[in-house]
Amino acid sequence: MSDGLLEARDLHAYYGASHVLHGVDFRVRRGEIVGLMGRNGMGKTTLLRAMLGLLKPRGGRVWVRGTPMTGAEPYLVARMGIAFVPEGRGIFPNLTVRENLVMAARPGLDGRRDWTLERVLESFPRLRQRIGHGGWQLSGGEQQMLTIARTLMTNPEVLLLDEPSEGLAPLVVSLLAEMILRIRTEGVTVLLAEQNLHFCAKVADRGYVIDKGSVKYEGTMSDLLADEEVKEKYLAV
Ligand SMILES: Nc1ncnc2c1ncn2[C@@H]1O[C@H](COP(=O)(O)OP(=O)(O)O)[C@@H](O)[C@H]1O
Ligand SMILES: [Mg+2]
Repeated sequence: MSDGLLEARDLHAYYGASHVLHGVDFRVRRGEIVGLMGRNGMGKTTLLRAMLGLLKPRGGRVWVRGTPMTGAEPYLVARMGIAFVPEGRGIFPNLTVRENLVMAARPGLDGRRDWTLERVLESFPRLRQRIGHGGWQLSGGEQQMLTIARTLMTNPEVLLLDEPSEGLAPLVVSLLAEMILRIRTEGVTVLLAEQNLHFCAKVADRGYVIDKGSVKYEGTMSDLLADEEVKEKYLAV
């Protein structure tokens, strides 16, 4: 049906009686880094959840790799190579960095095992330095990197990151941007849900801006950066 890895058409989602997504069209193509931007409470996480089957849409359609997956069980979506890194750090504090990574390892689609421990550590040199440390000993930035690195150990095709830069110091955010660009060169497609326009501008090729559950902008990041009206109205910058 489409060349998109992940696509939504006219998607509507609710929490109880509260109508949160109002007909969203959205697409991520293979090899892209896409930014999904918008202020707090505008529906970014809800859109991710509705595409992942974590929240059943009440209208519209979702495709994964061209296969209709509207409202499919989340484990079926995950099996198609779509990995989700939710907001907040999802590591095991009582395990070491190595243990956190090794216990997440599993083959991807068609038995792919591109991301070995060694390969992940090449992309995250900081984690190599911390390999024997407990999760609880890591800084916020190191925890975020470990969360992403663990998810790569599942060999996904697409990585959905929800607010990865949240709460990180500017220097760490730059480092995270480098890591994400490196991951893409290794063939992983990335979708970032972010309030931080400048972080998205560093890494994303294309972006969407949503406001109150509707897409207000879709286009390249460079066009978005030049669009003072959209930035001012919907991104508070
Ligand atoms: N579990 C929930 N139950 C009810 N309302 C929710 C729930 N999660 C989010 N919302 C509401 O849905 C809207 C969109 O939230 P969300 O998708 O989390 O926004 P964002 O990720 O852009 O900050 C907000 O108004 C929020 O209050
Ligand atoms: Mg959110």
